[in-house]
Amino acid sequence: MRRWSVAAVRVSCQPSSSRTSPTPRFSRTYSGHTQQKRSFPAQSLATAQHAEPFLDPPPPLAATSHVRPDPYKLLAPQLHNVRETLLNLLGSAHPGLSEIAKYYFLHPSKQLRPLLVLLFSQATNGLGNGWHIKRWAAECEGAGGRSEELDRPLTRADVLNDYNPSMPDHTASFEDSFSLKAPPHPRKLPIPPPASFANNSPVLSSPPFLLPTQIRLAQIVEMIHVASLLHDDVIDKSPLRRGTLSAPAAFGNKLSVLAGDFLLGRTSAALSRLGSNEVVELIASVIANLVEGEILQLKSIHGEELGITGAPAVGREYFNIYLQKTYMKTASLMAKGARAAVVLGGCKEGEIWKEIAYAYGRNLGIAFQLVDDILDYESGEAALGKPGGADLQLGLATGPALFAWEEHPEMGPLIKRKFQQEGDVELARDLVRRSSGVERTRDLARNHADKAREVLVLLPDSDAKGALEALTERVVKRTW
Ligand code: FPP
Ligand code: MG
Repeated sequence: MRRWSVAAVRVSCQPSSSRTSPTPRFSRTYSGHTQQKRSFPAQSLATAQHAEPFLDPPPPLAATSHVRPDPYKLLAPQLHNVRETLLNLLGSAHPGLSEIAKYYFLHPSKQLRPLLVLLFSQATNGLGNGWHIKRWAAECEGAGGRSEELDRPLTRADVLNDYNPSMPDHTASFEDSFSLKAPPHPRKLPIPPPASFANNSPVLSSPPFLLPTQIRLAQIVEMIHVASLLHDDVIDKSPLRRGTLSAPAAFGNKLSVLAGDFLLGRTSAALSRLGSNEVVELIASVIANLVEGEILQLKSIHGEELGITGAPAVGREYFNIYLQKTYMKTASLMAKGARAAVVLGGCKEGEIWKEIAYAYGRNLGIAFQLVDDILDYESGEAALGKPGGADLQLGLATGPALFAWEEHPEMGPLIKRKFQQEGDVELARDLVRRSSGVERTRDLARNHADKAREVLVLLPDSDAKGALEALTERVVKRTW
């Protein structure tokens, strides 16, 4: 396998004012690892940046022989750490609120979104033109990218946390009016290494190095996902999630909605500390997309009673809206989360790396949801920890039913009346069974997964890239 190495840049971390010389002293050293430095093939990159849409597609997975790393095994310690330390972000002066906010994190989960963030970080770190600055910020005290600094509030603690009786020194009691306090001395910022330290030819970081900001991003995407599930389980009136009582069933609707909001609040604070406006914009737009996706779905089921324009009348339109909803509810978080990871790794405007991450995440996310929709028909409870046919019960027509409609026109009226009449759900399941709806949905998922894998051809070889390839195969074959 090709090996990629990177120049590990070590620079002086002194704050600007403590430097004796006006010219910062930088020393560039290289890591002791393989020095077989390979720049990304200039020709491929030049083509890729203007490509319509890509280079020659790689051979189908079955035709390639080498064994790809298991994505979950490759990053098992990191994923464990993401889950463990995430709980620290959810403490509150109201223990009951923390309990609900942590509830879904205590059950086993696929952690697919954090996995994507970490794999893309590992598969691209070192390639972006701004990598040397990001690596420097992750190691240099005061530059804002170290783990401790990501935990440190940007604002005074007693402003940030209004009142917590168990932290009286760090919060402000409401017994007295808030008095004016002198601002703390501004922190002395270290000077970043100059642009001449940038790698002009993209080389992958070796050994792999994850930035603390990227690990925090992995937690942020999971927190947003869980916040959306807390709200979703209220909307769907789900009794179960992952085989156990859902949060609304355990704590009630009101507290579940509030816990979701609380998670979003903590997410926003953590996001701001990553120091990238581009990443804040990306992730904020995911939250909007999740809501838009949910509205699209609600509109197709309860449009009239909610007073929002109802479902379209024409078959093709149903399918377009279904795919759009699939992107917004599922793929947007994966696509923009992966893109944000690459931005945090120093990918600048005009570089291909973040485009690869987005295209991969978008296609993989759609493939993932299409398979989810198949599993709802095929195995239901055993696979998803909720009753089979839950989508039909909710009035939702997903891929298998929409494809079955093309072969069995009787499906049309059922879809339009949202499977509300006695026997509709059973009839719809039977029509799907007697059609190629499931196979066609799987073919569509496979097409998207193949597209996701194709874009990876533009990345240098690495274990993380191999794991991302493996994931495209797993997503289609999965039974979970
Ligand atoms: C699960 O869908 C739900 C989502 C993927 C997103 C739900 C989004 C919202 C409720 C909007 C609010 C968003 C935030 C961030 C507060 P599903 O019902 O198809 O899957 P399930 O079977 O796992 O419930
Ligand atoms: Mg649901």
